[in-house]
Amino acid sequence: MESSKGRPVWRGEVKQVGTITVTDDTTGKTVKLPLLEGETGPRAIDVRKLYAETGYFTFDPGFTSTASCESAITYIDGDEGILLHRGYAIQDLAENCDYLEVCHLLLRGELPNPQQKEDFERTITYHTMVHEQLSRFYSGFRRDAHPMAVMCGVTGALSAFYHDSTDILDPRQRMIAAHRLIAKMPTMAAMAYKYSVGQPFMYPRNDLSYAENFLYMTFGTPCEAWKVDPVLARAMDKIFILHADHEQNASTSTVRLAGSSGANPFACIAAGIASLWGPAHGGANEAVLKMLEEIGSVDRIPEIVRRAKDKNDNFRLMGFGHRVYKNYDPRAKIMRQTCYEVLDVMGIKDEPHLAIAMELEKIALEDPYFVEKKLYPNVDFYSGIILKAMGFPTSMFTVLFAVARTVGWISQWKEMIEDPVQKIGRPRQLYTGATKRDFIPLAERG
Ligand code: SDX
Repeated sequence: MESSKGRPVWRGEVKQVGTITVTDDTTGKTVKLPLLEGETGPRAIDVRKLYAETGYFTFDPGFTSTASCESAITYIDGDEGILLHRGYAIQDLAENCDYLEVCHLLLRGELPNPQQKEDFERTITYHTMVHEQLSRFYSGFRRDAHPMAVMCGVTGALSAFYHDSTDILDPRQRMIAAHRLIAKMPTMAAMAYKYSVGQPFMYPRNDLSYAENFLYMTFGTPCEAWKVDPVLARAMDKIFILHADHEQNASTSTVRLAGSSGANPFACIAAGIASLWGPAHGGANEAVLKMLEEIGSVDRIPEIVRRAKDKNDNFRLMGFGHRVYKNYDPRAKIMRQTCYEVLDVMGIKDEPHLAIAMELEKIALEDPYFVEKKLYPNVDFYSGIILKAMGFPTSMFTVLFAVARTVGWISQWKEMIEDPVQKIGRPRQLYTGATKRDFIPLAERG
C-alpha cells in the first residue's frame, strides 16, 4: 500500500496549515512564510525561501529551534519524556524485542514478522566477518590508542574494501552497505578491544545472537570454550536497543551533512563516530564514570553539585541534562533497572559508583538549580556503571554507543538519500569579521 506521495504507508506527510507573517520594523517590509505541520510535534516555519525573498538569514547557532529535515524514524517529546521509534515506545521495544528486530524497524520501517526476522538475522549474521586485510589497520595504532580513534580510522577504511556498495543512488547497494555496517561494527569494536589488551582477534560465530557474538568476540579467547551468561547477553542487547537512534542529535546530523554531499556511507558513519566521541555527546558515558571515580565518596557530592552550579566553573554534571529532554530521559530509567539486574547476576553488592550515582541523582533532582533548568539524568548516567560491571574498560563505553547507534545513523542517512527534497547541506553565517580593507605589502607591515 502507498500513501498519496508514493511513499510506504508508514510515512505521513508534511501539511501546510497556514502562514506566519514576519515584519521588519526597520523597513516596514513584511513576508508571509508557510506554517508546516507533521504527524505530531511542534509546527515549523518554512524559511526555505526567506533569503531569496528578503535577503535575510535565520540565526540559530546549535540549532536550538531548527528542524533540519523531515523524518519518520524517531519522535521525541522532551517535555513528556517520550521516545518513539516508528511509533513504538522505547519501553515496549526494550521489553519485548531484541536489537535486530529494532534494527529492522528503524531501517525498513516496520517490525519484522517471524520470517522477516529470521531472514534479517541471517543477512546480518553472514556479514559479520571483516575483510582479512582490514585487521592489518589495527597494527598501525599504538596499543594504548583510544579505541574511538581506532574506530574512526577503521570504519572509514571500510570504504576501501566494499566498492560494490558505495553507489548511493543504487537502492540495493544502499541496503547492502547498511547491512554490512550493522553487522561489522561489533566485530571491529571487539577487535579494537582485543588489540588494546594484546589478545588475538576472535572471529564471529554464526551460531550466536548479535549481542552474544559481540560479548564472545570481546571476552572469549581461542584457549577455551566460552559461554555467555544469558542475563548479560540480554542486558547487552537492551543497551544496544536504548542507544539505537535518537532523532537529529549531533552525530546523526553529522552523518546527514556528510551524506548530503554524496560521500559514501562508510565515510559518513566514520564522521558520525568522530562526532559521537565528544564528552557533550556519546563521550559522556566515559566521562560519567571518570566523574564518579573522581567524586570517590558520597561525602564529596555537595562540593561537586556546587561546582556544577558555579557559572565560573566550566565543570558540568556528566550524564545530566539534554537538549531535548526537559523531563526524565526514558532510556535512563530502563538503564537504571538494567543496572540492578547486571549487578545482581554479577554478584556485585554495594557497587561504589552506583551508590554515588544514586545519591547524586537524589540530591540534584531536589536542588532548585537542576529543577529550574530541567536537568535530569540522561542515557549516559547509568550506562557506564553497567558496562564497567560487565568487564568493559571505560575507554570502550563510547565505542559500544557507536556500535548501537550505527543502525540509527545509517537509517537516517538512507532516509535522507531517498528524500526527494534533500540537497547538499550548506548553512550560511552572521559575519562579524573585518570588512574590505586595502592590502599591505610585507615590507610595510609594522
Ligand atoms: C547524549 O542529542 C541527543 O539526543 C544526544 C543523545 C543521543 O542519544 O544521541 O541523547 C546522547 O549526548 C546525551 C547527553 C550526554 N551529555 C552529557 O551528559 C554532558 C553533560 N550535559 C551537558 O553538557 C548538556 O546538558 C548537554 C550538552 C547535554 C545539552 O546542552 P544544551 O542543550 O546546549 O544546554 P545548555 O548547555 O545551554 O544548558 C542549559 C543550562 C546552562 O545554564 P545557563 O547558561 O542557562 O545558566 O543548563 C546548564 C547550562 O550551564 N547545564 C548544566 C548541565 N547541563 C546543562 N549545568 C550543570 N551540569 C550539566 N550537566
